[in-house]
Amino acid sequence: MPTVPEIVSNTEGLKTLYRKDIDETYHSVHGAVIESKHVFIEAGLNFGLNQTQLTEIKILEIGFGTGLNAMLTLLESKKQNFNCTYHSLETIPLSYDLVKMLDYNANWTIEQNSDFIKLHTCFWNKEEEITPRFTLKKIQQGLELFEPKESYNLIYFDAFGPEKQAELWTIELFQKLFNCLQENGILVTYSAKGDVRRNLQAVGFKVEKIAGPPHKRHMLRAIKLQIPNE
Ligand SMILES: C[S@@+](CC[C@H](N)C(=O)[O-])C[C@H]1O[C@@H](n2cnc3c(N)ncnc32)[C@H](O)[C@@H]1O
Repeated sequence: MPTVPEIVSNTEGLKTLYRKDIDETYHSVHGAVIESKHVFIEAGLNFGLNQTQLTEIKILEIGFGTGLNAMLTLLESKKQNFNCTYHSLETIPLSYDLVKMLDYNANWTIEQNSDFIKLHTCFWNKEEEITPRFTLKKIQQGLELFEPKESYNLIYFDAFGPEKQAELWTIELFQKLFNCLQENGILVTYSAKGDVRRNLQAVGFKVEKIAGPPHKRHMLRAIKLQIPNE
């Protein structure tokens, strides 16, 4: 049985969750919001939007966790006026009572706070409209058993690290994710490990090693390139 995660803080008072049983945090101890914005929002979402000018985007996340990536994406959908369908896999849902103690909302308005509560309290396994621009389906299932029925523009691969959950960073599971991405679709992850890069390349992704968030040199962005017409 996994233990209930506990809250840990860094010297600046920034908080994240820690799973003692696997000795792993949910985010960088140097700041969850800074890390998520860099890896998933800037290198994934904004890079993709700049490339394609899409106004409708479908995202699959591996690891809903504290809902931070989902919330930052929701905020961008309002700011940049695009519609987002967001599907997120999670095996161990967290309670809102625990997540709210992370104080992500220090600078949020009342409306933003209420959107965050909705992300956490809406039903699982059901598509729910959180805002007119953001629809969420939290799927209580592991990636191993997930059978994608739709295709996505972007994947946030935010599982626990490959040293802790090696079974999720395999060629077999990356193949499943490659197959459910649209052409020119993007997968981003905070890991820049050589084995991860090689497994992504093995299933056909073009992989870039790009600058990581503060205190981390690199991260990976993998693109499913369009096959040129003969
Ligand atoms: C690094 S945390 C994700 C943080 C999250 N994206 C956020 O914004 O807070 C990894 C998450 O993956 C979940 N997880 C563990 N096993 C999984 C599996 N087999 N499939 C999908 N998610 C899994 C964990 O429970 C945890 O919530």
